Amino acid sequence: MTFIERDGTRREVDAPLGLSVLEIAHQHDVDIEGACEGSLACSTCHVIVDAAWFHKLEEPTEDEEDMLDLAFGLTETSRLGCQIVITEELDGLVVKLPAGSRNMLNE
Ligand code: FES
Repeated sequence: MTFIERDGTRREVDAPLGLSVLEIAHQHDVDIEGACEGSLACSTCHVIVDAAWFHKLEEPTEDEEDMLDLAFGLTETSRLGCQIVITEELDGLVVKLPAGSRNMLNE
C-alpha cells in the first residue's frame, strides 16, 4: 500500500493481510498517531483515502463516523486508519495523511 505524507512524499510499504492501516503505519514509522491504539476513542488515526479506493472499503460503523466528526480537516473520503483492515481487495491501497490532527493544535 502507499502512504502519501504531509509533504507529498509517497511511501510504498508492505501491507500484510489482516493488519490495519494504523498498524502498518506504525511498523514503517509513518506519522499517524493513533492515540487510542484502535479502540475508536480518538480521531488521531484519521487518513484520507484515495477516491479510487474509498468505495472498496467496508462501510464505517456509527462509532467510527462519530469519531470522524471530531477529526480535523475531515474530507469526503476520510476514514480512521485503525478501522481499515487490509484484505486482498485492498492490495495497493493509497491513503494520504491529513494536514494536521487536532492534538497538534493548541486549541
Ligand atoms: S487509533 Fe484511536 S480511533 Fe483509531
